[in-house]
Amino acid sequence: MSIKDQVAIVTGSANGIGSAIARRYGREGCKVVVADIDSNGANAIANEINSDGGVAIAVATDVSDEAQVNSLFESAVSEFGTVDILVNNAGLISPMKHFLEADKNWWDMIVGVNLTGTFLCSLAAGKLMAKKGGGCIINMSSGGATRAHRCFVAYDATKGGIEAMSRAMALDLGPYGVRVNIMTPGSIDTTGISEEGRKLRGTNIPLGRIGEADDLAGAAVFLASQDAQYITGQSIVIDGGMLAQQRSATVDIRPPSEFPKLEELS
Ligand SMILES: NC(=O)c1ccc[n+]([C@@H]2O[C@H](COP(=O)([O-])OP(=O)(O)OC[C@H]3O[C@@H](n4cnc5c(N)ncnc54)[C@H](O)[C@@H]3O)[C@@H](O)[C@H]2O)c1
Repeated sequence: MSIKDQVAIVTGSANGIGSAIARRYGREGCKVVVADIDSNGANAIANEINSDGGVAIAVATDVSDEAQVNSLFESAVSEFGTVDILVNNAGLISPMKHFLEADKNWWDMIVGVNLTGTFLCSLAAGKLMAKKGGGCIINMSSGGATRAHRCFVAYDATKGGIEAMSRAMALDLGPYGVRVNIMTPGSIDTTGISEEGRKLRGTNIPLGRIGEADDLAGAAVFLASQDAQYITGQSIVIDGGMLAQQRSATVDIRPPSEFPKLEELS
């Protein structure tokens, strides 16, 4: 599962899931471009990768701005010669609003970063990768693409759009050797929620715990590697089983607390 010596841009990698993927790519021997609107955070992650023996640069980028996206790709090419992997991870999760409180500015802001940002970065990457005959794009979705969150109408719409866009891009870019796939995280603790909150959320996840940013890193390596060379237009759901369940554990007819005890099994 080697991605050694590949060049990867990870957007939104100053924090959370993106930073976990960037660090892991660095440990796998990838040359990493840490792209984020948070320039201090991006510098800190790039420095960390470099001091851990990896190779990284930070490029301050607002992914919703076409000129900044083009300049991000110019920086990556000028520093590392090419781009092999793009992870479209940058995303705005908040602010949340009830549908009846929504307004166009809020809608435009979330669509601009999540959906237009993914489109702009993919377009720049797609052109570059198509010309050299190969590459891999990974787009970050959410369980919200198929099962709605309350008060996240814009966010969920962007994630549904990202999934549809990824499949359409996979068809258009396949003949050029460029693969496009989706990662769908479940409930991942990137904000440092309380121990009580973690426990409560974990109760309703089949694997019994909330996800960590590092839980996403292995799938990001796999999808970018040659082991995934025949996979495109697909989604890997990394959610501890959340999307697989009909009812949450606490209200199910037979909750996990009533499952057979190991000592009772024959
Ligand atoms: N945490 C979860 O439970 C969860 C669940 C499903 C999907 N996701 C998705 O995973 C991705 C990362 O989520 P996270 O929890 O790590 O979020 P996070 O808020 O911790 O990190 C998001 C990063 O994106 C950056 N960013 C925001 N706007 C940007 C812009 N315009 N240009 C460039 N960078 C920008 C932020 O500075 C930040 O570093 C998002 O796409 C999110 O929708 C997260």
